[in-house]
This record gives sequence, C-alpha cells and structure tokens, in this order.
Amino acid sequence: MFKLEIIVREERVEEVIEALKGTGYPGLSIMSIEGRGQQNGIQEQFRGRSYIIPFLPKKKVEILIREEDLEKVKNAVIKAARTGEPGDGKIFVMPVVDVIRIRTGERGEGAI
Ligand SMILES: Nc1ncnc2c1ncn2[C@@H]1O[C@H](COP(=O)(O)OP(=O)(O)OP(=O)(O)O)[C@@H](O)[C@H]1O
Ligand SMILES: [Mg+2]
Repeated sequence: MFKLEIIVREERVEEVIEALKGTGYPGLSIMSIEGRGQQNGIQEQFRGRSYIIPFLPKKKVEILIREEDLEKVKNAVIKAARTGEPGDGKIFVMPVVDVIRIRTGERGEGAI
C-alpha cells in the first residue's frame, strides 16, 4: 500500500478528484494549504510596485492505494493536473504499513 500526497492548483482539484474516482478510488482527503516550490513564491505588480508573494494557495489530496495501481493513479493525476506552466504541483509517494477500518476492524488492503 502507498499513500500519495498530491499537491495541485486549486482550479484543478475537482478534475483530479474525478480522475481518482475513475481509477477506482473514491475515498480521499482534501486540504487547503499554502506553499511554494523552486520559484520561491512569485513576484506580483501592484500600483506600480513589485511584491513577492511568499506562499501560494494550493490544494492537497491524500489518498491510499494498492501497489498494483500506483502507475495508473500517478498517470491519471498528472493528466488531470498538468497545465505545463510552473506551479502545477507535486506528487509525494510514501509506503504505508497498515490501514484499519475502525467500524469493522478490517486491516490492510481490504480496509482501503
Ligand atoms: N520540496 C518540496 N517540499 C514540500 N512541498 C513542496 C516542495 N516543492 C513543492 N511543494 C509544494 O507543492 C506546491 C507546488 O509546487 P510547484 O509545482 O511550484 O513545484 P516546483 O518544484 O516549483 O515546480 P515548477 O517549476 O513546475 O513550478 C508548493 O506550493 C508546495 O506546497
Ligand atoms: Mg513552482
């Protein structure tokens, strides 16, 4: 099992969620976050002056998936989230030791 932390543009998060559903994973968590990547924030013009905006709002989706679906899910997210411009986001991939469905006590893949 793996956990994906998927950081995307706010305006792409709905498409990403639909794409994930299409790969067979309706269950997920969504968070509103702020962050920055290698551009170290962005420069904005306002009333003739230049400002650095240190952090930009993004959406983070967390999802647990089976190992066999890893490539399929990553590709679906990339397709849904990519504009080709800086700021399209990142996918962090982490191994997961266990999952427990609290209601039933199921463990592992059956609890995803
Ligand atoms: N190294 C990092 N560690 C943790 N979070 C990161 C890292 N890089 C990016 N992020 C998160 O991802 C968001 C989007 O990053 P972004 O897509 O701008 O990455 P990038 O490396 O600058 O790539 P690009 O050059 O395409 O913009 C950031 O706002 C931040 O929330
Ligand atoms: Mg960037």
